[in-house]
Amino acid sequence: MRGKFITFEGPEGCGKTTQSKLVMEWLKSKGQDVIWTREPGGTRIGDAIRALVLDPEYGEMVDLTEILLLSASRAQHVKEKIVPALEAGKTVLCDRFVDATLAYQGRGRGMDWQLLGTLNEIATEGLMPDITMLIDISPEIGLKRAMEVDKAEAAAGEADRFEAAGGDFHRSVRDGYLYLAEHFPERIKVVKSRATVDETQEEIRRILSDVLF
Ligand SMILES: Nc1ncnc2c1ncn2[C@@H]1O[C@H](COP(=O)(O)OP(=O)(O)O)[C@@H](O)[C@H]1O
Ligand SMILES: [Mg+2]
Repeated sequence: MRGKFITFEGPEGCGKTTQSKLVMEWLKSKGQDVIWTREPGGTRIGDAIRALVLDPEYGEMVDLTEILLLSASRAQHVKEKIVPALEAGKTVLCDRFVDATLAYQGRGRGMDWQLLGTLNEIATEGLMPDITMLIDISPEIGLKRAMEVDKAEAAAGEADRFEAAGGDFHRSVRDGYLYLAEHFPERIKVVKSRATVDETQEEIRRILSDVLF
């Protein structure tokens, strides 16, 4: 049987990485065959593209270059990793996917929604998540958390190209995500980022249980 494809979305620092990895532990403890992956990245080629797209050194990157690079990373990811895993019956947990394109490049950058939909369709060959957990948080709190993670991970603690984009950009991204959730309520489930990691995880597990078991 084909595996389930679950994506995690939301603004910077909402807890996608933390929460999706906890979901992985949970599903593994139930005996499921699970892989965790992320975008941009997820493959060797994707990780090279990720480094390029996030590098604050490339401040001159135009919006079209950005979306074409992200789409290239996605095409490689879907074909090389996600589809083979699903076909092998694995559950695939993915930290960001097509909704990030509509929220970041559509709402955040103001790119044409239809063009982005077409690029998503091309890059994914029509593959869509079975369920998407949208972790909602105010951009102010999220960015603060994200910057703390950066500090812990890299000595420099520098904001990446998106983190550095400013408050208006991040407010638009959040609005974009909430708009998507309103329009695709069957697929996209909104979870408020709670005060603690555990409380948020509990709610995510409750929602996923309904879909998975
Ligand atoms: N519900 C929560 N409450 C408090 N802190 C959280 C919560 N979820 C995640 N965090 C913390 O916030 C930071 C950002 O989480 P992370 O998973 O890296 O976010 P994202 O991947 O969405 O950018 C981490 O330090 C993480 O431990
Ligand atoms: Mg993350």
